[in-house]
Amino acid sequence: MMWKDWIRPFVRPLPQWSTVAVAPPQQAVTATLRWDGKSADVTADHTVAALMPLVIASSLDAGQRPVLEYRDSATGRLLGVLRLARTASVAAENTSLALYHVAAGEHRCLGWPRRPWNTWLQNRLMLKNRSSQHLTMEPAAVQQLMIAYLCPRPVVLVSVGAPGHQNIFPMDLIGPLQRSGLFSLALRSTNVSMPVMREARRVALSSIPATMKAVVYKLSEHHKQPLPDWNALPFPVRPSREFGIPAVAAALRIQELTIVHSQEVGSHTFFLGRITSDENLAEGAQLHHTAGFHQAYRRRQGMPFTEV
Ligand SMILES: Cc1cc2nc3c(=O)[nH]c(=O)nc-3n(C[C@H](O)[C@H](O)[C@H](O)COP(=O)(O)O)c2cc1C
Repeated sequence: MMWKDWIRPFVRPLPQWSTVAVAPPQQAVTATLRWDGKSADVTADHTVAALMPLVIASSLDAGQRPVLEYRDSATGRLLGVLRLARTASVAAENTSLALYHVAAGEHRCLGWPRRPWNTWLQNRLMLKNRSSQHLTMEPAAVQQLMIAYLCPRPVVLVSVGAPGHQNIFPMDLIGPLQRSGLFSLALRSTNVSMPVMREARRVALSSIPATMKAVVYKLSEHHKQPLPDWNALPFPVRPSREFGIPAVAAALRIQELTIVHSQEVGSHTFFLGRITSDENLAEGAQLHHTAGFHQAYRRRQGMPFTEV
């Protein structure tokens, strides 16, 4: 082994994100809200509502200063915590959701001294690359976001089909808010399709097989420009069941979402919807994102996620 291979982990940070293949719904990590001596499972009841500032949504009202814990489901071991501060409520239909700012966070995926050292290396790299990025979250907020990704987040392609405007682009700031029965999407307000989604109030979500990673990343350009023609896509589409919006033919699952509420939360537009139809088309591993330090932890335990 070259000395450079040996020294690399000490001078180079872990990747912030790891793209992994996971059979949905992920069950590797459990999320729990704790407050005033109470606790509740929110694995399927918390999502990211905005990045700047970093805001978490849940249909559970856990008081003013709850703690969100992420644990390895198999061993119960604590992987990370986010300290939350209750901000606003969102009223949608006949329910209400709680929004929480992330006040602080720490993870336990690496031991000492690798943990602070890796954080320092990651933050230094973020500050160095800053000028070339549009989205300039503070390094501390990105570290907190990585903790929120300890629950691996599934990637979908969102299809928008309205008269005169069509689009399809990837999202992972999505998910169910179980107790309310609502499903949320956090979309940067600069997204070219955001006004159309607020107007048309319907989208189709295609759950993406892990094998389609490259195609999906390529489609992120459609956050900025609409799709000229459904036939221009490098894969076949099929109409969604009720809305007839073109969705991914090879999707594991296609869900139609009727949007019932949308509002700006910081940098993002927070959409809430109800599932109108749900077609399970295939079994298989879905593209997910998790934190790089989570995958490093899993690797050390001898049970890494399949990386794609
Ligand atoms: C896999 C994947 C998931 C994404 N998820 C979201 C999302 O949930 N919300 C969002 O606003 N943008 C999402 N994006 C879009 C990127 O953030 C997008 O490229 C970015 O908004 C580009 O804008 P910028 O260059 O102005 O930062 C995603 C992109 C990829 C590749």
